[in-house]
Amino acid sequence: MKILLTGGAGYIGSHTTVALLTAGYNVVVLDDFSNSSPEAVRRMEKLTGKAISLYEANAADKAKVFEILKREMPESIIHFAGLKAVGESVEKPVEYYRNNIDTTLTLLECMRDLGLSRFVFSSSATVYGEAHTPPFTEEMTKGSCTNPYGWTKWIQEQILADAQEASEKGLISGWKTPLSVVMLRYFNPVGSHESGLIGEDPQGIPNNLMPFISQVAVGMRDKLIVFGDDYDTPDGTCRRDYIHVMDLAEGHVKAAEYAAAHEGIEVFNLGSGKPYSVLEMVEAFSKACGHDIAYEIGARRAGDIQDSWANAEKAKRLLGWEAKRGIEEICHDAWKWQSQNPNGYGE
Ligand code: UFG
Repeated sequence: MKILLTGGAGYIGSHTTVALLTAGYNVVVLDDFSNSSPEAVRRMEKLTGKAISLYEANAADKAKVFEILKREMPESIIHFAGLKAVGESVEKPVEYYRNNIDTTLTLLECMRDLGLSRFVFSSSATVYGEAHTPPFTEEMTKGSCTNPYGWTKWIQEQILADAQEASEKGLISGWKTPLSVVMLRYFNPVGSHESGLIGEDPQGIPNNLMPFISQVAVGMRDKLIVFGDDYDTPDGTCRRDYIHVMDLAEGHVKAAEYAAAHEGIEVFNLGSGKPYSVLEMVEAFSKACGHDIAYEIGARRAGDIQDSWANAEKAKRLLGWEAKRGIEEICHDAWKWQSQNPNGYGE
């Protein structure tokens, strides 16, 4: 099976590319390198010993996307490409709505016109918003998001559900074949491939906890600011469901296989089901790197929810997938990547 990945050189895309190649699939990567590096593609090829067909293009560039899809005619598309910085989305909402929603609409139009039918979508646990208490299950209604980035995921899920329903009506709606859609709600992806060859390479000051801790550990930053210790949790800091990025990548392999075998639309949580607090993560990372991580307690960050973790039973039941790698492995692999590549993919 040939699978095209938009954003296939990015953090989750690159790990998924490796998992798909390892599982024997043929991979085509489409990426505009706006938040990724061609070096990641070279490393993926080195790691797997396999060639990757690479197209440099923005997933919202309809003329280019149509040409690429027409030439490659992939059996499945996994759509990762998108802007993803929560804080930046508050400052640039129009750019976030334009870019993220455009990519999905562009892909759907091209798929409809070319008769392509399988789509795996990179969604986020952020769609549960603040409306529910964890563990989150897929049948909970989508909540009210706390930032434009979250809303773009929420809206893209809605677009996919509507397009899928219309595709069932066949010729009336212009679809030649019913769509098969799998939407994956990620919790907090962290860690890196065990080789240390590929990993997360954030531009500038990291927004997320794990890359920030990693940069403190390697000496690039003085200390971590813990955003609040007055939450109603055992140690006062927020709890999250951290999932090893290779577990997440393997979840995409299962999702692509599921989409190939079933028509219709399904949504799955991809999480470990186990919450860890910010201070527990700091502690686990300092064990992995062998020294203390300097930190200071700061104010709460606007938009943070106290608790978020998955009920991942549905993925286990229908995809035969569950997270296998624990917190020690996550920190070990994150440290391996960071210590071997202190400047990420740059020199
Ligand atoms: N945190 C700190 N200091 C930091 C960075 C983070 O204390 O410097 C804390 C946050 O307050 C939070 C936890 O670490 O309690 C995790 O924060 P991240 O920024 O790593 O992750 P979030 O849970 O805020 O966000 C993640 C994804 C988003 C997604 C969101 C909801 O990054 O894309 O989950 O699913 F929208």
